[in-house]
Amino acid sequence: MPRIKKTEEATKQIEKPSSGIARLSKQPQLVKGMKDVLPHDQLYWDHIRSIVAKIGDDYRFARIDTPIVEHLNLYTAGLGKQTDIVEKEMYSFTDQGGDTLALRPEFTAGIARAYIEHGMVSLPQPVKLYAFGPLFRHEKPQEGRLRQHTQWNCEVIGEGKPVIDGQLILLGYKLLTSLHIKPLVQVNSIGCRSCRPAYRESLVEYYRARRASLCEDCKRRLNKNVLRLLDCKVETCQGLIAKAPPIVDSLCEPCRDHFISVLECIDELEIPYQPNPHLVRGLDYYSRTVFEFYALMNTDESDTQPARMAALGGGGRYDDLIEMFGGQSTPAAGFGIGIERVIMKIKELERASGTKLIPRRVNPEIFVAQLGEQPKRRAMVLYEDLLREGFTVAAEFAKDSLKAQLELANKCNAAITIILGQKELLDGSIIIRNMEGGEQEVIDIKKLIPTLRRKLNGALGEQQKGG
Ligand code: HAM
Repeated sequence: MPRIKKTEEATKQIEKPSSGIARLSKQPQLVKGMKDVLPHDQLYWDHIRSIVAKIGDDYRFARIDTPIVEHLNLYTAGLGKQTDIVEKEMYSFTDQGGDTLALRPEFTAGIARAYIEHGMVSLPQPVKLYAFGPLFRHEKPQEGRLRQHTQWNCEVIGEGKPVIDGQLILLGYKLLTSLHIKPLVQVNSIGCRSCRPAYRESLVEYYRARRASLCEDCKRRLNKNVLRLLDCKVETCQGLIAKAPPIVDSLCEPCRDHFISVLECIDELEIPYQPNPHLVRGLDYYSRTVFEFYALMNTDESDTQPARMAALGGGGRYDDLIEMFGGQSTPAAGFGIGIERVIMKIKELERASGTKLIPRRVNPEIFVAQLGEQPKRRAMVLYEDLLREGFTVAAEFAKDSLKAQLELANKCNAAITIILGQKELLDGSIIIRNMEGGEQEVIDIKKLIPTLRRKLNGALGEQQKGG
């Protein structure tokens, strides 16, 4: 539909009465497959963002932010025409200037573009980058599968050694374990340009003999991109995947050595992993190492089965992508972890254990209550003074009743409420109320700051922690 027509359609939904407020005929609704992150969930996000920034600092990964919109061909060329993302899931559109664009479905292609475009090849190699932000895939919405999801994504560009693959696996493992998730890494090698063609042939042969049992997508992809068949999620194709010839048998010597070194590295780091001979991942740019992060079923030490949940993250090497985009031949590797799935897992663990795994917000030390118009304005100034002095403070100046304000102070677990009324304003005094015991005292307002410090450093200090 042309743009003007679309705008007309949307405005038609606004009912315009002769007087009063123009209303939408239908209440606005969230777009299917998208999610609001409400205030009570922000603590999970804040906590994860802070861990990710810490890991970035600890391992010298610099943050990069690429645009949400890129040229569509970056993805069709980079991810592969026969991938699910490119075939079915792109949010693509033509803009007013006639450019064919897409909302980014993943980070790697955009980061590879930025590496080339900003001449990062002339920086000391490897270049280590991380990104954190929203991605868009028009998938069938279901649990753990959103149309807008968020990834923490790490890339190491300019180094092909297996230790890099090992370090990337370590980083993903670190995020998950620091969130109390027990991860299991599945790992495989899908070889390189020289050894993969022979494997492809053996796979085509295997699948041709079983063509009748394949789903329609797999039948179509059999001659064009047979590796994609190993990534098919259709139930009837699963049995065939399990019996397909494993890639490792076809690896050339350098690829086999590389794979063994990666496994030795993660062994040394004591990262639990399972080789998965049929893991290929859903994108075409991979070469050599591919891996995925799963959460183990439960907290039992002996448990080695991944939970029946989609992967929490995945990644691998993509040694040919930069060259394919017109850069020099540059080895690279990376991974992405899906933050919504991680939070789902944390909440599941919290429900199962009955404990909060993510630090809750610190309670305010002081609640500022007031009674009367003039005290209200004075209390607002006092609030600023307390913030400047470094206290954590709360108040609700729109409330007039003291009872309502004390209820709020209780609700947010403030240790102390200070109360300013008309009388106190005239006297130059203020009431200090210990919220735990309810006892109150009136003090000279000039002594407020040292009195609060003394009280909070004493027994009261304990009260405002946790809760
Ligand atoms: P991916 O496996 O497509 O890899 O996505 C990584 C993670 O993002 C998944 O394991 C999952 O947790 C999350 N994710 C993906 N799609 C959705 C969705 N529709 N809803 C919720 N979560 C989702 C990549 O994107 C690669 N670019 C990773 C990479 C970086 N490879 C090398 N460097």
